[in-house]
Amino acid sequence: MLPTRTIGDLTVSALGLGCMGMSHAYGTPDTTESLATLHAAVDAGVTFFDTADMYGPYTNEEFLAPFVQAHRDEIVLATKFGFVMDENARPIGLDGRPERVAGCVDGSLRRLGVDVIDLYYLHRVDPQVPVEETVGAMAEQVKAGKVRALGLSEASAEDIRKAAAVHPISALQSEYSIFTRDVEEGPLQAAREVGASLVPYSPLGRGMLTGGRAATVAALRSNDFRTTIPRWQGENLKANLGLVDRIDEIAAELSTDSRTVTAAQIALAWVLAQGDDVVPIPGTTKRKNLADNLGAVNVALSADQLSALTALSAAGSRLPERTLRQRS
Ligand code: ATR
Repeated sequence: MLPTRTIGDLTVSALGLGCMGMSHAYGTPDTTESLATLHAAVDAGVTFFDTADMYGPYTNEEFLAPFVQAHRDEIVLATKFGFVMDENARPIGLDGRPERVAGCVDGSLRRLGVDVIDLYYLHRVDPQVPVEETVGAMAEQVKAGKVRALGLSEASAEDIRKAAAVHPISALQSEYSIFTRDVEEGPLQAAREVGASLVPYSPLGRGMLTGGRAATVAALRSNDFRTTIPRWQGENLKANLGLVDRIDEIAAELSTDSRTVTAAQIALAWVLAQGDDVVPIPGTTKRKNLADNLGAVNVALSADQLSALTALSAAGSRLPERTLRQRS
């Protein structure tokens, strides 16, 4: 089956499954195929599934519910809270006030139809609320038996240290891939200091790192969030797809008559090689792509290949400027 890694006291498959795209962000998915992908993931040994209340909003947790209930004892279930959404499902702010936490936990438990969340993340630290206060309220939920372990998403090094002084932080979830390396500048070190594993989201660069096929992804539908990202626009996109050719070349170098290595596998193997405390959660809504991604655990990159990949630097920012400004 798949190798395992640890997140605090939780043991998970070395690759998890990001479920956001099944309800949110990347156009309108095929729900029948998404459901089949969830079941195929469990059959292949994936034990780590990631959602959030804001995906949909709320519909991703509801979509996962029957699957989660059917496999409750075999899987580690992660969800998140912290965003406030408007009636058009757009995030309009953050609310990390301690008095809000219990209601958010109960909402996720109700939608998912379970009585405990294995890993509960603060999706973004609310700049108006000291992180210690939010995490203090999250710790109460651990005491109440509704949550097993706590995580932070996209937190700064300083917030990681402050939070860990209140309650053990088992995971830092941040965007991390060959093309997005910001977390290396401080948060990753802080996570390691406090014993938190890194859970990279968008390890495939939201699909861009999947090689020649990324060009197809680039023909995005208008309801696809990526159309708003500078990295996916105009000259940036052209330059980035040029870098992706290099990933395709490395995939070709490693392919043999009996085995085709893909760019997606190279991208994930690079992330997996950054440490045993790193557990990427590539997102897919398709069984075929899931199988492709899981093949990454059998890809060994040489030191030269790792450094060639590390040297690839993407053009354009990873999120719309407005979103990045809100987060800084
Ligand atoms: P996120 O964490 O935001 O979901 P990601 O894991 O970097 O981002 O990439 C997800 C995107 O890559 C999705 O658009 C997914 O599309 P499908 O749902 O159609 O699979 C795409 N993707 C994932 N694995 C892929 C693969 N092996 N080949 C091609 N595209 C893939």
